[in-house]
Amino acid sequence: MANEISHAMPSDKEFQLFQQLIESKLGIFLPPQKKALLSNRLWKRLAACNMKGFEEYYRYIQSPQGKGELSLALELITTNETYFFREQKHFDYLRDDILPKLKPGNNFRVWSAAASTGEEPYSIAMLLADRCQNTWELLCSDVNRKVIEQAKVGIYPEMRIKNIPPEYLRRFCRKGVGPQEGNARVIADLRQAVQFFTLNLHEDFPDLGKFDLVFLRNVLIYFENENKTKILERIAATLKPDGILFVGHSESLHGISDRFSQLRPAVYKLTQR
Ligand SMILES: C[S@@+](CC[C@H](N)C(=O)[O-])C[C@H]1O[C@@H](n2cnc3c(N)ncnc32)[C@H](O)[C@@H]1O
Repeated sequence: MANEISHAMPSDKEFQLFQQLIESKLGIFLPPQKKALLSNRLWKRLAACNMKGFEEYYRYIQSPQGKGELSLALELITTNETYFFREQKHFDYLRDDILPKLKPGNNFRVWSAAASTGEEPYSIAMLLADRCQNTWELLCSDVNRKVIEQAKVGIYPEMRIKNIPPEYLRRFCRKGVGPQEGNARVIADLRQAVQFFTLNLHEDFPDLGKFDLVFLRNVLIYFENENKTKILERIAATLKPDGILFVGHSESLHGISDRFSQLRPAVYKLTQR
């Protein structure tokens, strides 16, 4: 049974149903070339739910009984690739330009808005714990509840912590023993310094207060321009007047939003209206 489904591809019509559903719930646009991705990520769920095909599964996740399954399906669609100190230049800029110039007494507020399994916010937290003279707050969110749970736990295979500078590894991570052999965990002080929650960038945001920095990296690529513009409008509203936005180095706001001006590659500052 599982094998039969593993080879099944959605028809064009079925793919379009999922395409519309995913765009309406997450804002993520799946181009037709992603048909195989959709099939690879969902076929196990079709098998688990004893569904004969994608259309039946689609109807199920749209029904009131299928609400939990819908969340699972949407979590499987998100791509969560990330690593510690990804796009190092952003961290160099934060350490060498932003933090040394902070006005004394201001509470420094940072939001990692598509944080995945926590490598990005913990990289920021390490830097802040090491270099920030001011009090600071770090908020960390993602639409995917599962990755946020993983981020909260803060346990990573040793393979995945290689990019952490040795001094930060000594200060902020502990090697696992016994059943945790081969893993490392971010220390409790740092885990507790980060506020984790789920948030869908495609929906209105709750009141989060204003931020000095927002990290919105490697997530805009999944949205079409119209949704990008709306998300950036909402992000602009969360920034302090001189707030800064980091996006991924393969992402650009050119022609997408007039709320920001570029400071350097993948770094933008809010423009005043
Ligand atoms: C490729 S990861 C990027 C992680 C990290 N920012 C980095 O650059 O390493 C993209 C993340 O965006 C999240 N995401 C996708 N759509 C989202 C949405 N509508 N709202 C919030 N997060 C979303 C995914 O769950 C995923 O964890």
